[in-house]
Amino acid sequence: METITPSTSATGCPIDHSQLSARKVDRPPVPTLPLECDDHGVWHIHRFDLVRKVLRSTQTRQGGFGVEYTNTAVMAKIPVLYAEGTTHTEQRKSTARFFTPTTVSTRYRQFIDAQVDHLIADFKAKRRADLSEISLALAVQTAARIVGLNRSLFNGMDQRLDSFFTMQMRPASDSPWQKLAILLNIRVMLAFFLVDVRPSIAEHRKHPQDDLISHLLNQGYNDREILTEVVTYAAAGMVTTREFISMAAWHFLEHPDLRNRYVNAPEEERQEILHEILRVEPIVGSIQRYATEPIALDYDGQQVQIPQGAKIDLDIYASNTEHTVVGDAADRVCPGREIQGDQIPSMLMSFGDGAHRCPGAYVAIQETDMLLSKLMALDGIHIAQKPTISWGDLSTGYELRNFIIAL
Ligand code: HEM
Repeated sequence: METITPSTSATGCPIDHSQLSARKVDRPPVPTLPLECDDHGVWHIHRFDLVRKVLRSTQTRQGGFGVEYTNTAVMAKIPVLYAEGTTHTEQRKSTARFFTPTTVSTRYRQFIDAQVDHLIADFKAKRRADLSEISLALAVQTAARIVGLNRSLFNGMDQRLDSFFTMQMRPASDSPWQKLAILLNIRVMLAFFLVDVRPSIAEHRKHPQDDLISHLLNQGYNDREILTEVVTYAAAGMVTTREFISMAAWHFLEHPDLRNRYVNAPEEERQEILHEILRVEPIVGSIQRYATEPIALDYDGQQVQIPQGAKIDLDIYASNTEHTVVGDAADRVCPGREIQGDQIPSMLMSFGDGAHRCPGAYVAIQETDMLLSKLMALDGIHIAQKPTISWGDLSTGYELRNFIIAL
C-alpha cells in the first residue's frame, strides 16, 4: 500500500491520511497537462476549472450516453439528456418538482423506507446476499416510483432493465454478431415496453398522477417517446445509484472507523461522508460534449481554442482529485476535508455541472443513505466476497458485481 505522510495537506488537515480508505478502482495517473488534443481530434480536459467552464458553456451539446447512435434530428421530442437550449431549460423547469428535497421527504421517503426494510429483512433471513442485486432492486424501485412505472404485468423489472443495460451500445455494422446484439437489444427493449411501460401509460391515461409519465402525457408525448424518456431516466438514475450504493458499502465494510462514524453520525454528516466517497469514486468517469461553436479556454497564461465540431472528453476523475481544490491524499476518503474555491459542492463533479447537472442528486444520496445507514448498523455484517470490477459502456464508469455480504 502507498505510504502517505500524515498531515501534509495544503489545507492543514490534521488527519493521518495513510489510515483513510483509498480509491478501490484502478485509474491511470492524472496527466500532467491540463488539456490535450489526441490524434483523432478529441480534446481531453483534466483540470477542474476548465472542465467546469466547458460544462457551464452554452457552446456545447451532449457527446456521450449513446448520442452518436441516436438520430435526434428525426425525434419530435428529444430526451432531456440530449436536449439543449430553451427546450432543455423548459424540460428541466417543468420536471424539477419531482426531485426537490420536499418532494423526496413527503412523497418518496416512506416508499423507500418500506423497500429498504423489505430488502434488509430478506438479507437477515438468508444471512447472505449479493449487494449488487440489493442495490439494483432499490435503485430501480425508487426511479420507477419517480417516473411512474407502477403497473408492470410481472415482477422482475430490475432484471429486465439490467439485461437491457448490459447489452453493448454499438453502431450497426454487417458483422453477424453485431446484428444479433442489436436484435437482442430490440427484444429486451420490447419486453420492457410491453411488460412495464405500456401498462403504466394506460393506467396514467385513465388516472393521471403527479409523476413523470403523466407530465409527459400532458406534453403530448406518444408511447414511443415516453419509452425513450423512461429509458433515459432508467439509465441516468438506476445504473448510477446502484453502483454507488455498492461502492460506498465497500468502503465502509473495509474501514470499521469510517463505518462507525457513518452509522453514528446525524443525517447531514452521513450525507457529507457519502459525498466524499462519491468524489473519490465518481460513477460517471468522464462526460462528453461536442463544441457547437469555437470555445476559448485560458490556463496558465495561455489561450487555447477548441474548434467547432470537436469532441471534448471531460475527465471527472482528474477534476475530482485536483490537489489545489481538495488538498492532499485526494484519492482517499477524508470526510470534512476543506474544499478550496467558491461554491464547489463536496462531491465536486460527480453529479456533473451546468445545465445538465444531475437532477436526481438529492434522491440518489437520500436513498443510498436510507439503505446504508440501516445495513451498515447490522451486527456482524461483513464481506464474504469482494465485488468484481468492470467498466460500463453507457456510464463510462465502474460496475461492481457479485459483491457477497454476510452476517
Ligand atoms: C449516485 C447516483 C447518480 C450519479 C453519480 C449521477 C450522475 C449524473 C451525471 C454526472 C449527470 C450529468 C450528465 C451530463 O452532463 O452529460 C447526470 C444527469 C442526469 N441524471 Fe443523474 N446521477 C445519479 C442519480 C440519478 C437519479 C437517482 C436520477 C433520477 C431518478 C437521475 C437522473 C438524471 C437525469 C434525468 C439526468 C439528465 C439531466 C439533463 O441532461 O439535464 N440521476 N447524472
